Amino acid sequence: MAILKIAKMGHPVLREPAEPVTDPTTLEIHRLIQDMAETLVDAEGAGLAAPQVHVPLRLMIFHVPSHRETEGGETIPLTVLVNPQITPLSDETDEDWEACLSVPGLTGLVPRWTSIRYSGVALNGEPIERVAEGFHARIVQHECDHLDGVLYPMRMTDLSTLMFMEERRHYAEEQEDHETADEFA
Ligand code: NI
Repeated sequence: MAILKIAKMGHPVLREPAEPVTDPTTLEIHRLIQDMAETLVDAEGAGLAAPQVHVPLRLMIFHVPSHRETEGGETIPLTVLVNPQITPLSDETDEDWEACLSVPGLTGLVPRWTSIRYSGVALNGEPIERVAEGFHARIVQHECDHLDGVLYPMRMTDLSTLMFMEERRHYAEEQEDHETADEFA
């Protein structure tokens, strides 16, 4: 097990589409996932995509922590998703704050599909198919974007909401808005 170095915005590995994984059951992939899981815990993040640790493969890990249970949402334990695909279930989108381990210190309001179906393959090669809403849908979209060379600021429609986390916290305190949304992904 090892804590991996996280690529930052500007690194080419974050700007290019990643390659499909041909066999998720290999020892090499399992070791990579173990290291990614350790890296995610160390970074106190909610999700991590392989390109963020300099590996240009289409795989990601994420979880939905209990304090993120939302409208009809649920806690999702650490999930490994290989070669994921996303289908929006309606035209409805929702804006919420996002942050990214590859864009440290910043946060911004990002529109995402409210409700999606996603599919992919688990580490044992079994298919995964789930319907997701709220934070669960958001984090899967955020991580899938990493596999296509897209970072969340590229999805923002109002760049005036791109700000430093510490400034947003300060502003939120002034507004007596203590809601936090600071998981990195
Ligand atoms: Ni990210």
